[in-house]
Amino acid sequence: MKSQCLEIVRQKCESCKACPLAKTRNNVVFSDGNPSTAKIVFIGEAPGEVEDEMGIPFVGRAGQLMNEFLSEAGISREDDIYMINTVKCRPPENRVPTEEEKSACRKFLDAQIDIIKPDAIVLCGATALKSFVELDKKQTISKVRGKWMTVTVDRVEYKAITIFHPSYLLRNRSMEEGSPRRLMQQDLAEIKNTILGDKIISEEKELVLA
Ligand code: URA
Repeated sequence: MKSQCLEIVRQKCESCKACPLAKTRNNVVFSDGNPSTAKIVFIGEAPGEVEDEMGIPFVGRAGQLMNEFLSEAGISREDDIYMINTVKCRPPENRVPTEEEKSACRKFLDAQIDIIKPDAIVLCGATALKSFVELDKKQTISKVRGKWMTVTVDRVEYKAITIFHPSYLLRNRSMEEGSPRRLMQQDLAEIKNTILGDKIISEEKELVLA
């Protein structure tokens, strides 16, 4: 049922010409994962070069690093996650997608979430985060990551959490206590325990948004 609904959205997305990225894309990058078993929707920024060639999200260097962190955390990319991006077509030179591109693609993002109805949404990096939450100047990604919050899509509330984008971790290789990679391990363990285990969210892990 979910797969059939998503197929209809995918077909519309694949013929979309609502923003300039339609002219430069090789493939629309719609999703990866099993919609029937996935409890978590992971949202990235936009496809890169390899994703654009293959039509699958998170398969380039950043995606491979993400796979390593996921398997270390005991989260199955095939069964537990439905992987998508804020924008479904590659921005030239991998630039950050514009407001126009994000808003043209928003209906597809919302439809995917609405069909999956995940137990949690994981926002990978600043572009995904800012698509759901207005940040004030003090709320950098380093401060917001790892804390549970609520986001609303089509009037339905979802538990959500922000993690670093794996591209950031490609540039930050330290494994010292408190380093971005160690925090990523910590955040994925929290997601695994809370959503795929049976842990209750503790108060200090909840984020109060301004
Ligand atoms: N970065 C993203 O945000 N998404 C991808 O699919 C690949 C790289």
